[in-house]
Amino acid sequence: MTEPVVKAWDRAAEGWSSSSPIIHAWLRQATAAMLSEARLQRGARVLDLAAGAGDQTKDIAFAVGPTGDVLATDISPKILDFARGRIEAAGLANVRFAVADAEQPVHAQTPFDAVMCRLGLMFCMNPAAALAAAFNALRPGGRFVALVFGDPANNPCITTMMKVARKHRGLTGSVSPYADGGLFSLAAPGRLASLLTAAGYAEVAVKPLAAPFELPDAAAYVAFVRSSGSPIMEVLAPLDAPARELAWQEMEEALEEFRGHRGWLGPNELLLGSATRAG
Ligand SMILES: C[S@@+](CC[C@H](N)C(=O)[O-])C[C@H]1O[C@@H](n2cnc3c(N)ncnc32)[C@H](O)[C@@H]1O
Repeated sequence: MTEPVVKAWDRAAEGWSSSSPIIHAWLRQATAAMLSEARLQRGARVLDLAAGAGDQTKDIAFAVGPTGDVLATDISPKILDFARGRIEAAGLANVRFAVADAEQPVHAQTPFDAVMCRLGLMFCMNPAAALAAAFNALRPGGRFVALVFGDPANNPCITTMMKVARKHRGLTGSVSPYADGGLFSLAAPGRLASLLTAAGYAEVAVKPLAAPFELPDAAAYVAFVRSSGSPIMEVLAPLDAPARELAWQEMEEALEEFRGHRGWLGPNELLLGSATRAG
């Protein structure tokens, strides 16, 4: 993981943490499905990869209870500080934290019952390495579960924002939506399943989940992304402040198309991948 990538996530850390209520509501059902697929028991040992500001870490820590043990890791030291604060504020004493790259081997003396990753795996430039590291960290019979972004066609808010951001940056060349390390890097049909199978997992399953954003208006969505949506923030970062402002305004206008009778509903599709390290 390169220094600029770490710094980029550090820059989004505060925004991602303070957007926790929005993120929690957005991902409530998807996170519940992820926890269910992990088949967690009380007392389980869980590795939470790319844990971010700890929103799902908290849910995992409650699920495994005080006799359980959660190791939350992330490449961004700054975002992990927010996770630590969130877990302490919840009065949980069963979570440890470590700055670590998900693509690197895991240093742990006891294997994990589950390895989980919510909206982080697609940012790995080498997801096969991350899946291999997770496999080696699991006990036989242990579960791997990850949520990633699904088909770009079913994520029009993200594709619209990225298109507008790239236009304002003058990036006119075409890029594959499935580029390594990008938001949709694992969204190509069959890609996540084939990576899991190639890494040696059994019981491989990948299913799409609808996770629409329900917010008062497009402005609220743009406010969320401009403080915490690192990939789009980084495209606009080299522009001066007025030029950036124009881009955010154009995004907001474009996203107004998702306003309905009962507020704003931004379509969003995730993929829930799950697999077992066979015993
Ligand atoms: C979109 S946030 C998701 C955070 C959290 N899992 C959640 O769902 O709220 C993506 C996170 O992935 C982390 N990340 C990106 N690449 C990573 C890598 N190679 N290893 C570990 N963490 C990584 C970022 O620092 C960031 O915290």
